[in-house]
Amino acid sequence: MHRFNYTLNPIEKAQKMGQRPLLIWLTGLSASGKSTLANELEILFHKEGFNSVVLDGDSLRNGINKDLGFTENDRTENIRRTAEIAKLFLQTGMIVIAPLISPKEVDRLMAKHIVGEDHFLLVHLDTNIEICEERDPKGLYAKARKNELLNFTGIHQPYEKPINAQITFRDNFNIKEAAQAIFNEYKGYL
Ligand code: ADX
Repeated sequence: MHRFNYTLNPIEKAQKMGQRPLLIWLTGLSASGKSTLANELEILFHKEGFNSVVLDGDSLRNGINKDLGFTENDRTENIRRTAEIAKLFLQTGMIVIAPLISPKEVDRLMAKHIVGEDHFLLVHLDTNIEICEERDPKGLYAKARKNELLNFTGIHQPYEKPINAQITFRDNFNIKEAAQAIFNEYKGYL
């Protein structure tokens, strides 16, 4: 396949934006706090003068990933596309926050490979399943227990805890403190 060689490179574009592009990948069970943390983090970046975008599994599944379900193959494709979209944003200098269950180690490694190791920060929301199931904000655990919903992560399908997360938050972690910790990590990258 022939590729045109564009003159302006992503690093020059990112420098103009005055920030370092980074994909912050939030992995964890449904109801572990991923979207809430992504939201808090985005507010913090905004307040501190940084530009970020959230690629939320739930929202992407209403649009570009509408054709995908929750089989292993579909989840892999969901993660692949999300990482490719993140890569495009990274090339504009953006900070990308991606809250996705992403239950498999191999898929998270693929995401890291797509954007490059230097642009990937893996954050694990290690909220145990009992807490997630008690929260059950969308009533999905209840449905999964009755088998009204299939392939549900943590019930019918496993969640593989990451072995190489740069940051891990456990159980009832404080959202504001967690956002601040990730922000501090980001500042360390600058
Ligand atoms: S991932 O596994 O492919 O990374 P993703 O984060 O995009 O998942 O989507 C998960 C969201 O889809 C959950 O927050 C939940 O609202 C919804 N959902 C619907 N069915 C399932 C299911 N079988 N397993 C997990 N999540 C599901």
